[in-house]
Parts: sequence; C-alpha cells; structure tokens
Amino acid sequence: MQLFVDTANLDEIQAAAALGVISGVTTNPTLLAKNNHGDVKSVIQQIAKLVPHGPISVECVTDDAESMIREGETFVTWSDNIAVKVPMTVEGMKAVHHFSNNGIKTNVTLVFSANQALLAANAGATFISSFVGRVDDIGFDGIGIIREVAEIIELHSFNSQVLAASIRHPLHVTQSAAAGAHIATIPFKVIKQMYDHPLTEKGVASFKADWDQLQKSNLTPA
Ligand code: E4P
Repeated sequence: MQLFVDTANLDEIQAAAALGVISGVTTNPTLLAKNNHGDVKSVIQQIAKLVPHGPISVECVTDDAESMIREGETFVTWSDNIAVKVPMTVEGMKAVHHFSNNGIKTNVTLVFSANQALLAANAGATFISSFVGRVDDIGFDGIGIIREVAEIIELHSFNSQVLAASIRHPLHVTQSAAAGAHIATIPFKVIKQMYDHPLTEKGVASFKADWDQLQKSNLTPA
C-alpha cells in the first residue's frame, strides 16, 4: 500500500517528502483554507514541485459536470502531476467519465459506500477515496467499507485504485493495508506516529550504549 500525505501545509509536505516514504499528496478546500492559501494555483504548483513523482489531488468545488470539467482542465495546466478530485455526485461522475476519456487522472472523493465506489469505478476513476474516520464517527465501520470496496475492485478487475482517506490514527493505516487499500492518504502527524515504537527507541539506545562500551574496552590496554 502506498502512502500519500493528506495536507496542504507546505512545511509538512516538505518534511514528508524528505522522509522518502510518500508517493502523493491529497488536498481539499478545508485543508487549503486551514493553511490560508488564498492563491491556490501557486500553492498547488509548490506542492507539485515538492512531490514531483506523485499525483497531487486538487478538488473541484462547482456543482455541475460542465463547470467541474472546466475547473479540472484548468488544474491540469498547473503541473503535469495533478489528479482532479471530484465529489461522488451524479454530476461528478459525468465529469469523471469525461476526464477518463481524455487521459486526465481523477480522485473521486466523499465515497462512503460500496455502491458509490462501484459507480466511480465504472465512470473511470483513477483513485476512489473511501473515507474511514467520518464513517467511524457516525458509528459505522469505515474499514469494513474499505475491505468491501477493495474486494469488488479486485474481483471485477477494475483499474481504479482504492484510496483510504479520512485516516485518524496509525491503526487506521494498518487496517486499511490489511483490508486491501492500494493507497492511504494520511495526516502528517499520523505518519510521524507510525514510526514510533517504545521497543525501537529502547533497542537503539541499548545498541548504542553497548557499542560505546565496546569502543571504551578496545581502548583499555589488557
Ligand atoms: C482526502 O482526500 C480527504 O479529503 C480527507 O482525507 C478527509 O479527511 P477528514 O475526514 O479528516 O476531513
């Protein structure tokens, strides 16, 4: 399972890119607003330079297919690694069908059920963002939906990739991978948490202490 970073914060993206484990970035209007990016084009271009080999998802905010197509066709002129993020609506799927026919990558967002994913796959979505945390928040099983969607995509040999979104903690990442997601998009804070394990810290400290001890004893004449 590949890892994308789910943020529009340039410092976080730069730090995430430097880790060497990230292969894409997802943004949404909320993440852009949170980081006060008035000039969306300029920030997306900066993100695209920081992660040049991965798709950068940029979200349409209009309601009808024609306007979404106009938005998406503008986004893809900003950089050559843009994926147009389209909401899971009737109009959105018309736009995805158009983008798919024109070789433009898409990320269908706000997917909360297997049937929505099935529609997105048939429209030709490149990525299908099935939300985990928001489903859990209302008392349902977000990971269960990821598993169902991944099974359907695999069983029927769709080309779409299942993208686990709305990830809230490291366990969501493990569970998404085990459920068959191709990608998880993860907040930077959670990516950092994934590195942590008390036994790793303890092991590093004790190996270092033993090495230092060995160096000292080698210097001590017998
Ligand atoms: C990413 O593509 C989604 O927009 C994002 O993961 C949503 O996360 P949230 O539910 O924490 O807002």
